[in-house]
Amino acid sequence: MVNEIKPNIYSVGALDWDRRLFDELIPLPDGTSYNSYLIKGSEKTALLDAVDPTKTRILLDNLTKAGVDKIDYLVAHHAEQDHSGSIPDVLLLYPGAKVVTNAKCKTFLMDLLNIAEEKFITIEDGQKLSLGDKTLQFVFIPWVHWPETMGTYVPEDRIFFSCDFFGSHLASSSVFVEDEPFVYECAKRYYAEIMMPFRAAIKNNLKKMEPLAIEMIAPSHGPVYQRPQFIIDAYRDWVSDEVKNEVIVAYVSMHDSTRIMIDHFVDSLSEQGIKVRQFNLVGVDIGKLAIALVDSATVVIGSPTFLVGAHPAAAYATMLTNALRPKTRFVSIIGSFGWAGKMVEQLTGLLGNLKVEVIGSVVAKGLPKEEDFVALDGLADKIAQKHREIGILK
Ligand code: FEO
Repeated sequence: MVNEIKPNIYSVGALDWDRRLFDELIPLPDGTSYNSYLIKGSEKTALLDAVDPTKTRILLDNLTKAGVDKIDYLVAHHAEQDHSGSIPDVLLLYPGAKVVTNAKCKTFLMDLLNIAEEKFITIEDGQKLSLGDKTLQFVFIPWVHWPETMGTYVPEDRIFFSCDFFGSHLASSSVFVEDEPFVYECAKRYYAEIMMPFRAAIKNNLKKMEPLAIEMIAPSHGPVYQRPQFIIDAYRDWVSDEVKNEVIVAYVSMHDSTRIMIDHFVDSLSEQGIKVRQFNLVGVDIGKLAIALVDSATVVIGSPTFLVGAHPAAAYATMLTNALRPKTRFVSIIGSFGWAGKMVEQLTGLLGNLKVEVIGSVVAKGLPKEEDFVALDGLADKIAQKHREIGILK
């Protein structure tokens, strides 16, 4: 599909309705898109990013449909293969094209795709490249989520091509955002899964964009924003230091002891006026867990003792939480054991990346007894007190 999004600027990338996993890890319930943009200046033609190698044919067909017989510049914002993988094929079809990118991205592209060094033009942060009546102004936006990523601003059209930044994994036949709440959820999932660990860098990137007059944001995944303030405001909220009066309760239970504890504990938290996001880790969509991690003040992991340690499903969720580095403030562990175990020590030991206060644990021997329910109520009290201390619960 070729869509003109501004005069002489076209979306020429590919939809991937069927993809269900990214990096063989990240669920894509709504598919994704690999956006590529064609800019026809009065003197030069540029292609911003290519597509995933599985969709090369679609990109090349779209370029033919758009009547492109020459590409002068192929701007590579990011070396990850979902945007760069078809660059070698584009260069075969348009042998005069130069790959325009920064020094770091150039080395990645040479390593990942064997692109010859003489094919590159290396640019600096803030550098401009004229296409005649349109200008490409390069803006480095590192760590969204690789260190080399950059965007391009076209001042004549007030459009910012943001690469993964502001993107959403969403295949949609509409080139522009139509349903903001739905796109918000998809974009938050994407932020949570790959950008959240780099919150500080993303804050800086948002600041860096402030001097640019932006009327439209065209990301490399998902639909184009005609009302960019919507997604900029969402990002400002996600990267802020504010947390919400929410507790994530992520658990697994083998013979119901842990489940009974979780049920009691969740009721107790709710009675304290705290919102709970409960996840059974068996078959969980880790994207939904990641979304909840963006804002929640507290995370509680529930696990039975399995072969002396934590249940692997609980360990996996804990490792993932540690890798995503959410701004969570408080952590606790709940669970049960049969005869002995190191479940609590193991799980807390997996959270070394987080600047959190570990506020105790409740572990029952077998089925929870009266004293365990009292301890769970005590833990809910303690969490409520902590939420009050940081001003998120009255
Ligand atoms: Fe969409 Fe980081 O590639």
